[in-house]
Amino acid sequence: MEKKWWQGKIAYQIYPKSFQDTNGDGIGDIPGVIQHLDYLQKLGIGILWISPVYISPCADQGYDIADYYQIDPMFGTMEDMELLIKEAEKRDIKILMDLVVNHCSDEHEWFKKACENPEGEYGKYFYFAKKENGKLPCNWRSYFGGSVWEQVPGTDWYYFHSFHKKQPDLNWENPLLREEIYKMMNWWLKKGLGGFRIDAIINIKKPLPFQDYPADRSDGLCDMSEVLKHAYGIGEFLGEMRDKTFRIYDSFSVGEVFNEKEGELKDFMGENGYFSSIFDFSQTIEGKSPKGWYANEAPSVDAYKKCCFHSQKKAEGIGFYSTVIENHDEPRGVSYYLPEAARHDKGKKLLAAEYFLLKGIPFIYQGQELGMENMTYSSIEEVDDVSSKAEYAECIRVGMSPEEAMKVVNQYSRDNTRTPFQWNSTENAGFTTGIPWLRVNPNYIEINVEKQENDKESVLNFYRALSELRRNPQFQDTLIYGRTEPFLEKEPGIMAYFRRGLLQDIVVAGNFLDEVKYIEIPELEKKSDSVLISNDYVEWKEGQLILKPFQVVVLSLS
Ligand code: GLC
Ligand code: CA
Repeated sequence: MEKKWWQGKIAYQIYPKSFQDTNGDGIGDIPGVIQHLDYLQKLGIGILWISPVYISPCADQGYDIADYYQIDPMFGTMEDMELLIKEAEKRDIKILMDLVVNHCSDEHEWFKKACENPEGEYGKYFYFAKKENGKLPCNWRSYFGGSVWEQVPGTDWYYFHSFHKKQPDLNWENPLLREEIYKMMNWWLKKGLGGFRIDAIINIKKPLPFQDYPADRSDGLCDMSEVLKHAYGIGEFLGEMRDKTFRIYDSFSVGEVFNEKEGELKDFMGENGYFSSIFDFSQTIEGKSPKGWYANEAPSVDAYKKCCFHSQKKAEGIGFYSTVIENHDEPRGVSYYLPEAARHDKGKKLLAAEYFLLKGIPFIYQGQELGMENMTYSSIEEVDDVSSKAEYAECIRVGMSPEEAMKVVNQYSRDNTRTPFQWNSTENAGFTTGIPWLRVNPNYIEINVEKQENDKESVLNFYRALSELRRNPQFQDTLIYGRTEPFLEKEPGIMAYFRRGLLQDIVVAGNFLDEVKYIEIPELEKKSDSVLISNDYVEWKEGQLILKPFQVVVLSLS
């Protein structure tokens, strides 16, 4: 396989609204990102994904774009963005912007023109339809609840939206629309971006003509994940996009792809894939129900491990998944995947090492490197996230009490990861001198950068050590390119694997149980100098490695 510049990189996601405010308006901004580039460099970051900063009315926190060519004043200016790209480059960090092109905002010029004349040129940039015999063209449910069809006020036209009604879907079947998108992408790439993270891309291909599918709830609607199973031919669009944009600039592209079909992984991220990489979401999907959050079941440690190993096997010989434990759409990984008894620094380090040393491009979501945790909201009024509101309503609809519904929301809310970054223990965690747009997690007194900076045992310094190990030229062949081989796979509560390189093998062994485990590593010879990283003192007994509760050990073999 051809080597690429991005294969050995460590990536970091910034949710700019919550990272660092520099002008006291309570909203994080681009100058705030620039201010902390040294911090990111020290963490060994090579790729920096910035969630959307384009002009947006923020019906879905910037994922509803009203102008792809301008920075929203709440985040700064185009000069700030250009400076960010330049300053990052100096530190060997490539910037990824978020590419949201399944839909735009209903406040985008295209959509406004389209509504004036749904049968005109811009009408063809979207999906418009009228009822026939009193019936909408299909019974699909939008991701944020309710029908995908919304009436254009004062007309008998309806437009299609997979997400919020303020996010009308763009019509990718229209070649003129596609050319507009590629033009815009290249305009950005020319500014020196490293590439894009591509939002909700699997949704651009609809199974047309519109038709009903069997309803899966009493609302008579059908879930989009079911609908998408019937959509074929997305490759035509994605291959075209690759050839007309990414390939020209040798950029890194990572797709938010939830449901590629059986056998399609190679098309998406193989040698000549549509994207450089796609996220491995197998563990985030595990246990999720089409009925809604209330019917989800969070994965056990063994289910988590199974998902990771399954994906590693699937990707072997094909390419590099982007690995995550959280992002701006998920709860905090340490609050979600760790069993109750493991929710402390030691357990956080265990989870960190397990996912970080898998094969792929590890992504760290802001604050993950500190072990930031879920937030607790006591009422739905405190929550900003649109999907939380829809899911709360669904809980109430099926008969749960507000207290029960809030329990569900607290477990899954996207606001869990959207709370302001915790820099220090001063008011508002050093995020802003004003009033933060979303409440700071009260645990910032305990969990913050300043406190962890000089503490050798902190979660932050553990992440730094993992990052250093991954970037150490001595281990690159193994940790970047070596295959993953599960070890003790059947052992409950133990997650262990080998990374096999040409010259060297490494083993990662972790114990998620609150009891001591003894494991035998047949290939291990030199014991004392083989320890690369651990979150506890490493001991042996009669040739067996002692794994204390929640301990993880990384050893080099031979
Ligand atoms: C993606 C984004 C999410 C957004 C949705 C619609 O899933 O990550 O935040 O709500 O797309 O753009
Ligand atoms: Ca600001």
